[in-house]
Amino acid sequence: MLPTDDAALLARWWDAIFHRVSVRSFDPQPIPESFLHRLTKTIDLLQKAAPSARAVILGDEPRDILRGAAYGLFVGAQGYIALLGSPKEERIDQQIGYLGEGLVLEATALGLGTCWVGGMFRASKMAKKLASPGERVYAIIPLGYPASRQGYGHRVLKGLARSKGRKDLATICPFFHQAPPWVKAGVETARLAPSAMNRQPWRFTLQDDRVILTAAGIDTPFVSKKLDCGIALLHFELGARHAGWEGHWEWLDAPRIAAFYP
Ligand SMILES: Cc1cc2nc3c(=O)[nH]c(=O)nc-3n(C[C@H](O)[C@H](O)[C@H](O)COP(=O)(O)O)c2cc1C
Repeated sequence: MLPTDDAALLARWWDAIFHRVSVRSFDPQPIPESFLHRLTKTIDLLQKAAPSARAVILGDEPRDILRGAAYGLFVGAQGYIALLGSPKEERIDQQIGYLGEGLVLEATALGLGTCWVGGMFRASKMAKKLASPGERVYAIIPLGYPASRQGYGHRVLKGLARSKGRKDLATICPFFHQAPPWVKAGVETARLAPSAMNRQPWRFTLQDDRVILTAAGIDTPFVSKKLDCGIALLHFELGARHAGWEGHWEWLDAPRIAAFYP
């Protein structure tokens, strides 16, 4: 469960879901220290729900750790988030997704641009710099003020990933049209979540009175669909809470991800 009842924070993140898009070109304007501090506070807040995942905020451009084509794709970021954890920890991918997306939404609410990067960075170089023994770097998220015009590489990648498109509501939740309002709100909000190659590998089904989130389809190279589902889990929770849901959710074993109780 998102360990907060702070209505202003929940509203800010819910709102950010509708503004967020992946940003790959950034303005050279520095990120205010107070924003980096807010992101650090967000890590503290989310740690209870994602205790095995670790996030580090770095205040420099991630250029030297981007791989090959990504050098030209991500331009001008003024900082980045690194997401780490031990592959031995249970549900680590899901927790990385949940923690990272909370940071993405807080950054978006602050007016910053973000983009999850799962495969285009030098994981071993990053690990040498940041990881404790047994940890790996799962993803990085460049940060900065969005440039007024996104670069050519961004536009190509957006087209390749069909970033604007989302699966039908009935595909991700077959009982959508019969669902109660809190479930509809949750599914609609989850549908907007970012995912690697925009694969949206999440499905919602009803079992008794619970909603079950399950990972579906194939993994993307370097990114487990469980990580994408961790992102969708936070979105579903925010949407359902916005619609007045006062229930709770629990982790489940893969391929199931979580159960939501009314
Ligand atoms: C876990 C994850 C990994 C991603 N990895 C990359 C990446 O390596 N390079 C990249 O350009 N975009 C990456 N993306 C961004 C997706 O392509 C993007 O979220 C998706 O196409 C939907 O577009 P939107 O974020 O603008 O809604 C990643 C997204 C997620 C959630």
